Amino acid sequence: MIPVITIDGPSGSGKGTIARLLARRLGWRILDSGALYRLLGLAAQRRGIPLDDEARLAQLARTMEVAFDDERVLLDGDDVSLEIRTEEAGNRASRVAALPAVRQALLQWQRDYARAPGLVADGRDMGTVVFPDAPLKIFLTASAAERAKRRYNQLKEKGLDANLRDLIKEISERDERDRNRSVAPLRPAPDALELDSTGLSIEQVMDRVLDEVRRIWPDQGV
Ligand code: C5P
Repeated sequence: MIPVITIDGPSGSGKGTIARLLARRLGWRILDSGALYRLLGLAAQRRGIPLDDEARLAQLARTMEVAFDDERVLLDGDDVSLEIRTEEAGNRASRVAALPAVRQALLQWQRDYARAPGLVADGRDMGTVVFPDAPLKIFLTASAAERAKRRYNQLKEKGLDANLRDLIKEISERDERDRNRSVAPLRPAPDALELDSTGLSIEQVMDRVLDEVRRIWPDQGV
C-alpha cells in the first residue's frame, strides 16, 4: 500500500501551497488534480471542442499527453504552466470537471500516480472518490474574502492580470458549481480533518497537518 495524504478544499484555501510543502518535506510525489482539469479545458479549446461535448471531452481526457515536470506542466509537449493558471482556465476546468464521463476517464490516471514512497494529492474529491482509503485526509477551507485575496496575490506574483472584485465573483461562482454538481461534489470525506485557515499563517496550518502526519506515520521523521 502506497501511503497517501489527500488535501481537498475550495479554490484559494491554501491547499496547493500546503500540498507542495508537505510533499517536499516528506519526499513524496504530488498530484495537482486541478491541473488535469485545467489542461483538459485548454486542450479542448485548442481543438475547438465545445465544453459540453461530454463524449469528445472524455475521449480527449484519455488521449491528451500531459506531463508534470518539477514546477512545469506540459500539454502535448508544450509548457503551459502559466496558461493554465488564469481565472479563465479555472472556469473552463470547472465546467469540464462537472461531466461524469470526464471524471471517470481521469480516475485511473490519478490512482496510478500514487507511487512509492508516497503521494500528496490535492483537489476536490481526492478523499471522497479518488483515494477513499487514504489514512490522512485534510479538508482545508477559508472565508471567501480571504480566498479571493490570496488568489489575487498569487496571480499578481505570477505577473498575471487580476481584479479583486471580479475574483470574488468568479471564485464564488466556481465554488457554487463545484459544490452543487451531481458527480464528486466538493465536500469533506466523513473521516477528513477539517481545517479553517482563515487568519492562519502557512506555518500554522503546516504545524497542524504535521502533527497528524507524525501521529499516523511516526517513522517518517517529520
Ligand atoms: O484546484 P484548481 O483551482 O486548479 O481546480 C480547477 C477546477 O478543477 C476546480 O474549480 C474544480 O472544478 C475542478 N477540480 C475538480 N476535482 C479535482 C480538482 C479540481 O473537479 N480533484
